[in-house]
Amino acid sequence: MITTSFFLFAFTVLVNGFACKDAKLVQANGFFFSGLHLMGNTSNAVGSQATPVTVAQLPGLNTPGILMARIDFAPWGINPPHTHPRATEILTVIEGSIQVGFVTSNPENRLINKVLEKGDVFVFPEGLVHFQRNIGYGNAIAIAIVGLSSQNPDVITVANAIFGAKPDIPNDLLAKAFQADVKVVDQIQSKF
Ligand SMILES: *[C@@H]1O[C@H](CO)[C@@H](O)[C@H](O)[C@H]1NC(C)=O
Repeated sequence: MITTSFFLFAFTVLVNGFACKDAKLVQANGFFFSGLHLMGNTSNAVGSQATPVTVAQLPGLNTPGILMARIDFAPWGINPPHTHPRATEILTVIEGSIQVGFVTSNPENRLINKVLEKGDVFVFPEGLVHFQRNIGYGNAIAIAIVGLSSQNPDVITVANAIFGAKPDIPNDLLAKAFQADVKVVDQIQSKF
């Protein structure tokens, strides 16, 4: 009896994801999302906005290991360098011209980049730092649809992680890492 109460008090069940529904209660709406025809609001510092369709928006994405998103870009807007530690990303352009790139790991750190037009498809391997930028002329907007190979891919935006850590990563450490003046590091840290 002592053993029983020990287990009762010592464990709670933690679920990575969401609980599954009874199959008999499942309806079409559980596999459905409407909204990717809507433009994201790109009025922000980087000029882009992602509209995600994850398990939070579409319950049927619980466990298959896949999700979709729309990314809108203002003229010259960027999706800043970032990484998804748990997902490969595939992107297609449905409007405009988008420069895309990723950087290979050490020691080469080779930039693989390309300009994509409507209908082109590009893949960003899991874990690598990558970016996108609208390079359309004039006031051209750009729209991409992406798929990621995880229900919880995570996003680590490099600038936010390095210069926007809470509390700050020590500025002298970053100055040495970036071989820059501490004042330059302070200036960048003040923006994140
Ligand atoms: C877009 O975002 C900006 C900045 O947050 C905000 O001021 C503006 O009202 C938003 N526009 C729309 C249409 O929601």
